[in-house]
Amino acid sequence: MPGTVVVGAQWGDEGKGKITDLLAEKADVVARFQGGNNAGHTIVRDGEEFKLHLIPSGILYEAKTCVIGNGVVIDPHILFGELEALRARGISGDNLRISGNAHLIMPYHLLLDGASEQQLGMYKIGTTGRGIGPCYIDKYARVGIRVQDLLDAKILKRKIKTALQEKNFLLQRYDIGVLDADQVTEELLGYRERFEPFICDTSLLINSALDQGQHVLFEGAQGALLDIDFGTYPFVTSSNPIAGAACSGTGVGPTRVDHVIGVAKAYTTRVGEGPFPTELFDETGTAMLEVGQEFGTTTGRQRRCGWLDLVALKYAVRLNGITHLALTKLDVLSGLPTLKVAVSYRAGRRQLDEFPLRQTDFHHAKPMYEELPGWTQDLRACETWQDLPQEARDYVQFVAEFTRTRVKFIAVGPGREETIVLPRSIGLGGAF
Ligand code: IMP
Repeated sequence: MPGTVVVGAQWGDEGKGKITDLLAEKADVVARFQGGNNAGHTIVRDGEEFKLHLIPSGILYEAKTCVIGNGVVIDPHILFGELEALRARGISGDNLRISGNAHLIMPYHLLLDGASEQQLGMYKIGTTGRGIGPCYIDKYARVGIRVQDLLDAKILKRKIKTALQEKNFLLQRYDIGVLDADQVTEELLGYRERFEPFICDTSLLINSALDQGQHVLFEGAQGALLDIDFGTYPFVTSSNPIAGAACSGTGVGPTRVDHVIGVAKAYTTRVGEGPFPTELFDETGTAMLEVGQEFGTTTGRQRRCGWLDLVALKYAVRLNGITHLALTKLDVLSGLPTLKVAVSYRAGRRQLDEFPLRQTDFHHAKPMYEELPGWTQDLRACETWQDLPQEARDYVQFVAEFTRTRVKFIAVGPGREETIVLPRSIGLGGAF
């Protein structure tokens, strides 16, 4: 697996943390390439639960190098909070490396995220409120503050002063008041010493590792349908969570990626606002919520639940070039007599077999379902493909065939060991 990308193939929260943790065992380097602490990864290892938002999931293996790539946005307070929490549990975090080109989430980004959501009112995006959007806005407006700016106090102060000219104007308009450039600079410089040992040229580090034949795992956050270009815009995040961004977000070329693993739940969930054709408002949706414990790791918000949308999943396979799927939370579907999967949409009189180009079509899309028989058996004890009931195998097979990809992993419980790793992938042949 020299260069392997792990991405979310839905609206985030697919269980990427668990799959990454599993794959990280065989990796030498684990690198995050986009997003920030809007993400939330829960990893259960030997019954112990770890919740990470910013630090790559691989941090739990002290022998691996963990990278926060240039495409990530970093809230220093969260970063060092997570490191301290890990240290308190005996994990040093010394194996972390941070790109000098990564952007920093500043106090004004947090304020502006909240204020802009309030301003949007009923049209709000339902962001995580972590300042992600405003930070990426500044990156592209070329007024962002980067990790390497911490190494030059004079330049840092000038940059913050420049950025605050416009921010303070906005903050006043939002009735929040103004921020003092000196104070913001001082507070940020307070992190400099703690940052210093971690800062490095992470592109060089990753490329050198690949040159030496080491295995690099690129860890995505969020999911394809939250992609700024291809997701359900404007109800998306402000970065590209698709596999292509693993290259620009870490500084490697596309020729270095060998496999793309897409993680998808056996059903669908979404947090925040925006269209969701297969959303359920009945007792089946409630059962998914309760059995699947569908509450956000980052904001604690209840997730919206619905049937598996194969039109959207097929789209995610295309956007990411997914070579293998990891299907998670299959156990949550146990006990449902019939399972539905969306195989096309209807928009007015038209049948749509592909994810629609036009946002309006997606907003009005009615899912056309294929029904598959359910199973009653608890799957959590299943360790192999053969242990799964026939109906569960048929369900997985259907997903693989419909999306024209291969299923390599099937998760049947939250624990790391509750994952079936298929020796030969199910679907379009070919081993991993
Ligand atoms: P932001 O990324 O905080 O700007 O939020 C934009 C949208 O992406 C909102 O609908 C969030 O709920 C959603 N979002 C951001 N990060 C995640 C995630 O890790 N999982 C699921 N949804 C997310």
